[in-house]
Amino acid sequence: MKHLLDTDSLTKDWTERLFKKAAIFKKEIILTHRQGEHLKGLHAGLLFFEPSTRTKASFHMAASMLGADPVTVEVAFSSIQKGESLEDTVMTLDAMGCHFLIIRHGEDQAAAAAAKVARQAHVVNAGDGAHEHPTQALLDAFTILEKGKKFEDLTILFLGDVLHSRVTNSNLSLLKTLGVRKILASGPANLMMPEVERSRHGIKYLAQLDDALSQADVIYVLRPQKERHAEEARIVMAQYRQSWGLTSERVAKSVKKDALIFHPGPMNIGLEIDRDIADGPHSCVLDQVANGLAIRMAVLDTLHQDC
Ligand code: CP
Repeated sequence: MKHLLDTDSLTKDWTERLFKKAAIFKKEIILTHRQGEHLKGLHAGLLFFEPSTRTKASFHMAASMLGADPVTVEVAFSSIQKGESLEDTVMTLDAMGCHFLIIRHGEDQAAAAAAKVARQAHVVNAGDGAHEHPTQALLDAFTILEKGKKFEDLTILFLGDVLHSRVTNSNLSLLKTLGVRKILASGPANLMMPEVERSRHGIKYLAQLDDALSQADVIYVLRPQKERHAEEARIVMAQYRQSWGLTSERVAKSVKKDALIFHPGPMNIGLEIDRDIADGPHSCVLDQVANGLAIRMAVLDTLHQDC
């Protein structure tokens, strides 16, 4: 595989090999603070057209911990501000010899557009519009496994702004490939994936949040992605928390004792999730973040090894 653009194209076998490699990197490099040399002499271009904390920093660290040099293009101070296109920027970094181009962009299919013009570099989609965020889904599935869960047995609930969520899109394909059979969604009707899409993915929509929470083994909380909302979808914060927020009272009342709570970040504390739930015993939020580093190391090394 030359590029990582989406999760549709990932097989169970490829994913399981990636997880094995991520577990080894975690044990032998991350937790022991050793320096890897797997990608020594290579350069990893980081092209982030949208804000990011977790994805950008962890790809930077992943490249560096395997011996590659991260090359961060500060988009706000780059020639993109003079009108240079994504494609020309990609071709420029590719011509300089960047071995990887890790791209976040506000447009759907931006990573695929980059992959079309990259002659040598491996393109990694670090989130494109409302389309896909494949490394997020990989780190989520890795974290579910690490928590001792079996995909075949799980009911997974996506809660919140499913309509605009590239994280949900990437998770849906990957989780089905890995064997998940029961997927639920709950959240405001105007932020829900259309019925035709839900039935294509086999998702059951539950308008009663407490009903959905009581069935879920993994509750995947999504923030309202205001940057992708049309004006008419604007939400009233107090109403949102009251109707759809994962509050302490709701968790105490409806959530299974051994349920896992996931959030891709960034979180809006007090809106879609309460502070004590984000920090509480069900929460896997920081495990997700920590595993992002191991997964991104494994992605870079696997793309390099595969070609
Ligand atoms: N989950 C995620 O993509 O977070 P960042 O926007 O901080 O990278």
